[in-house]
Amino acid sequence: MDQLEVKKPLIAGNWKMNLNHLEAIAVTQKLSYSLEDKDFDAVDVAIIPPFTDIRSVQTLVDGDRLRLLYGAQDISPEKSGAYTGDISALMLSKLGCTFVLVGHSERRAHHGESDELINRKLRATFSMDMVPILCIGEDLAIRESGEHVQYVLTQLRNALKGIHKPDLKKVVIAYEPIWAIGTGRTATPEDAEEVCSAIRRELIKIGTEEISHNARILYGGSVKSGNIVDIMREPSIDGALVGGASLEADEFARICKFHRVI
Ligand code: 13P
Repeated sequence: MDQLEVKKPLIAGNWKMNLNHLEAIAVTQKLSYSLEDKDFDAVDVAIIPPFTDIRSVQTLVDGDRLRLLYGAQDISPEKSGAYTGDISALMLSKLGCTFVLVGHSERRAHHGESDELINRKLRATFSMDMVPILCIGEDLAIRESGEHVQYVLTQLRNALKGIHKPDLKKVVIAYEPIWAIGTGRTATPEDAEEVCSAIRRELIKIGTEEISHNARILYGGSVKSGNIVDIMREPSIDGALVGGASLEADEFARICKFHRVI
């Protein structure tokens, strides 16, 4: 996937800890049959299931030659060894994962993930040529203090510290304000654009003009078929990271078809 040539929008569905592997097969089949070639030509569509579903999704995608992409919700920063419960970059790569979510706010909150750990997870993702979707975003208190842009840019700089330019070219950024996740309270398109455009400007400093221009910046937080079109009209937003609304194939397919009306 060369983002320097084409910047295709990306709609990724983060299933979080939902859907067992049998349900995953049903939802994946229904989703792929709800979308047409013209949708896959216009938009990269990815699902990010729990680890236990990935092999089933891989079998389906390979066997039926589906145009869906998929990835994992987390990754170990370590290569292999005595790390009970962790999953390595090599394991995910062998499962055909294109994407890895790194630094989701739920992992930062429930597993105490630091910027330093997130930086190591990004490096692990790049080591197997997968594409990280780096999640950043502020909580309500920070938003209300008015410091949200600086806060998010600090998260961005810390996560990407020391990452070489050839890898920076590949990174996808997801701006997910915590107060908008699973709350039904979506950021307005203008709120999302304010932060996403600041992220893009910061990427010039961290990388280059070209890296900034070609980077895909997603918005996440209560995205639904009813608000995706307005979100995607914003100039700095190249896609969406969808939680709850990605669990239902019909609704997720409607979100992926946003391009038909823009
Ligand atoms: P919701 O779409 O359920 O708000 O979740 C957003 C999210 O966290 C995606 O990673």
